Amino acid sequence: MNYKQIKEGDIKLFVPVAKRIYDAPVFYNPHMVTNRDISILLLKALDRKFYCMDLLAGTGVRGLRIKKEIPKAQVDLNDKNPVAYKLIKKNASFNKLKVNVSKANAEFRLANYKQVYNYIDIDPFGTPVPFLDPAIKALKWKGGILGVTATDTSALCGTYVKACKRKYRAKPLRNYLMHELGIRILIKKIQEVAAQYDIALTPIFCHSTRHYMRVYLKADSGAKKADKILKQHCMYEGAGPFWTGDLWDTKLANKMYKLLSKTNVSQKTKKIIHTIKEESKIKTFGFFDIHKLAKEYKLKQVPRFDRVIAALHQKKYKAARTHFSDSGIRTNAPLKTIVKIIKS
Ligand SMILES: C[S@@+](CC[C@H](N)C(=O)[O-])C[C@H]1O[C@@H](n2cnc3c(N)ncnc32)[C@H](O)[C@@H]1O
Repeated sequence: MNYKQIKEGDIKLFVPVAKRIYDAPVFYNPHMVTNRDISILLLKALDRKFYCMDLLAGTGVRGLRIKKEIPKAQVDLNDKNPVAYKLIKKNASFNKLKVNVSKANAEFRLANYKQVYNYIDIDPFGTPVPFLDPAIKALKWKGGILGVTATDTSALCGTYVKACKRKYRAKPLRNYLMHELGIRILIKKIQEVAAQYDIALTPIFCHSTRHYMRVYLKADSGAKKADKILKQHCMYEGAGPFWTGDLWDTKLANKMYKLLSKTNVSQKTKKIIHTIKEESKIKTFGFFDIHKLAKEYKLKQVPRFDRVIAALHQKKYKAARTHFSDSGIRTNAPLKTIVKIIKS
């Protein structure tokens, strides 16, 4: 196998050279750096002694970054691909990092844990559904954090409605809100799996791009707490059910923002964290699409977003751009107020 040496965060690592990332003997996607950067910022901001499992580790990049960048973290990495297993070991010793590496099937590996984890990372090809049940069982039920990626956005965002219904037991919507709604379906699904074991999973952070969705949830145990979570699964415009509660812990988002200056992350990561820091202060279900409204109300020009946001602030409403869409504004103002502003 041909390798090249790269740098990501505070580590250097070997990754396979291949024409297309999916042809490589071990998977490494440089476009997922923001996904990994954000997990580092989140664990740093939570500031605890973490016992982590990077369950589907690939080259080991995420788990090794955690070991290097999060003080006192203990890290286990697993990948069933024997070539990946060897590469993780090579990358760990190259960075002089002491971690435990295994090459088991994920379900088997989690069923044989020696100590419960207070952070489990699930970063699969496609849907995370097969890994949810074993991960939740191996997670610390009081305060454990689950980080989950889904790349089957075409199901969650409503291109493949049947696949979404089958895998997530929810009807998606393909409209301007689809990325937020897709994340709300993903959260609902993860919470349902946890609730079977009287575990309440509360989202603390999430983000989405065209190609993937990523959510972080914090565990707490108790039947009543799990019931309270399930009560927040509701239908919207004939679709769903969706998680209708908060998507972010505002204080955590703010801490992550403050850590940007002390953490080696990409420009794209800085931009998204900056947007979410403001967006997370506004606890609404959905946002407004200004381009769509401009079209509906036959405006000659789409109004400037900073002007709309400033006008909403002046009227004492909360308002900020949303990272879910370039044409969206999240606000607690009613539609009629926004229409009045964009028409003026
Ligand atoms: C998307 S890649 C992981 C990428 C990696 N987390 C990163 O940040 O670069 C998914 C990985 O899961 C591994 N995998 C898939 N199914 C698995 C299973 N059932 N048990 C263990 N590993 C599995 C694959 O070999 C692959 O390396």
